Amino acid sequence: MCGIVGYVGKRTAQNVLLNGLKRLEYRGYDSAGIATLDDTDKPHIARSVGKIAELENVLLVKPHKGHLGIGHTRWATHGGVTVSNAHPHHVGDVYLVHNGIIENYKELKEQLSEYEFQSDTDTEVLAALIDSNYKNGISLKDAVAKALKKVRGTYGIAAFSPNEPGTIIVARLGSPLIIGLGQDETIIASDASALLGYTREAIYLNDGEIAVCTEKGAEVFNLNLKHLSPNPETIEGDVEQIQKGGYDHFLLKEIMEQATTLHNTLSGRIDPEQGKMHLGGPNLTAKEMRDINHIVIVGCGTAYYAGLLASYYMEQLIPDLTTEVVVASEYRYRSFHLPQNSVALIVSQSGETADTLACLREIKKRGVKTLGIVNVIGSTIAREVDGGTYVHAGPEISVASTKAFTAQVVTMVMFAGMLAEYHGGNVELIAKITKELSILPKEIEKTLKDHREDVKNLAKKYCKYNDALYLGRDTAYPIALEGALKLKEISYIHAEGYASGELKHGPIALVDETFFEVFNILDNWLFDKSIGGLHEVRARGGKAIVFTNSKAEIEADDIIRINSKIKILTPLLLNTLQQLFAYYVAVNRGNDVDQPRNLAKSVTVE
Ligand code: G6P
Repeated sequence: MCGIVGYVGKRTAQNVLLNGLKRLEYRGYDSAGIATLDDTDKPHIARSVGKIAELENVLLVKPHKGHLGIGHTRWATHGGVTVSNAHPHHVGDVYLVHNGIIENYKELKEQLSEYEFQSDTDTEVLAALIDSNYKNGISLKDAVAKALKKVRGTYGIAAFSPNEPGTIIVARLGSPLIIGLGQDETIIASDASALLGYTREAIYLNDGEIAVCTEKGAEVFNLNLKHLSPNPETIEGDVEQIQKGGYDHFLLKEIMEQATTLHNTLSGRIDPEQGKMHLGGPNLTAKEMRDINHIVIVGCGTAYYAGLLASYYMEQLIPDLTTEVVVASEYRYRSFHLPQNSVALIVSQSGETADTLACLREIKKRGVKTLGIVNVIGSTIAREVDGGTYVHAGPEISVASTKAFTAQVVTMVMFAGMLAEYHGGNVELIAKITKELSILPKEIEKTLKDHREDVKNLAKKYCKYNDALYLGRDTAYPIALEGALKLKEISYIHAEGYASGELKHGPIALVDETFFEVFNILDNWLFDKSIGGLHEVRARGGKAIVFTNSKAEIEADDIIRINSKIKILTPLLLNTLQQLFAYYVAVNRGNDVDQPRNLAKSVTVE
């Protein structure tokens, strides 16, 4: 979704802003803009609809030469995708970029009748509100603080005024803002990836805080203007991680690098010799671990499906535990009750998803312990949970989530394995899974290598279809859901995931020769039942693709058989092939695979 970059220092601001905005492109956006102050303190604005390349074209004709500026990528919420709705907005003496939503903007707009608004956005109303307070010798910082007290909603903002050159004011409530502290320069961003290569030292602003940024650093206050002294933190990652590394797309890179990232996820957390798993982050005493009797797993999209798959393993590993997996956007508004001694796992790649964050807060209100299963270090969810574990998948740039899914499942399995020890769990199973985890990175690498060409050819064959069904049983069911999600996200083919056993309860009515079906069939005690569904589909003319680890004879139109030492965790291997399949289908259809239409990487608004 929307992204913010700001710069004050010795470099040409335009270049830093464009570079930063490009790093934020992956979040999804539909227009972009920058505002800068030149060395005579004259402001300049450039905005455009479409990709950053369009903005670069505008700036090529009329470059900005100043050393201070703010930039924005907008994902439209209030008002269509037009240049006048693009940020930065300028009202009076205030230049502003904003992420989030000002919920009471209509009310505020009525009170600001002296202004003539140029856009349909809530942001322009906020700019006017700040400007209306920016009078009678009051500083921009004080005017922003005053305005923000009247606002209902969420915001991450950056603002400047030609009256106070050399200064950018930033503030946050529910939308991330990070201040990178460089040598005689300060870089502001809504996402740490925009700061990489400039500085490693940063202040992560908390909700309700406002900061005055100059080239010498930042001073932080609360909205009552009490001075605060936050400790700068170190930003993880490097520029290489956010580049394509020779691949055509980030998505392909992220699929193919899963062996490496998984190695990081597992590092220091499993002991295959002893058959044990251990995570440091949950921060629970032995008694608290023993007392846990219920786990609720919360997430959206792919994170939800990761939770669903992990819950199957949790139930196998821990006999006296109940689990439930919930979609955050629903759960946050339900009158839910959780048994005493429950623990909530809050699963989120970005750590910023608005619904997941709202659930976390609802669960905390009920006195239940929350643990984060999060990828982005320092993100809001990671900060607000009681404990938790980073999944260490590294920056995930492509909008569709791939390597984070694998890392999330594995991290939750490790949590379950550790918890099982306190609950008299099946020691043999714990040891088996630990062993499988230890070879999983290599097996993923081998699976992708062995079958990349086959999957590519398969994608060519099926890329013209308009409908697909993904089916699976038991632990292959969550990956059927995830496989369908991946395909629809990036190929725009209508795809549905179903439990194979549900086929007769509706979806089979759709099946004819215009559909193709993807069956994930595991070589386990449910094999025969899975095959049943396959026959039913083929009997009705549907084309069937099978991903399996079984060596048994299977009648299908296309089969990809993996040959692996992994048994219990096979769904993770099959899923990597589904990811690859979706990728190649999307490429064949000529889609923008890294930034699919209408989607955003981090859904920070409801
Ligand atoms: C968006 C992304 C998905 C992601 C979901 C949850 O829809 O496009 O890829 O699975 O949000 O995001 P999170 O960051 O909370 O895992």
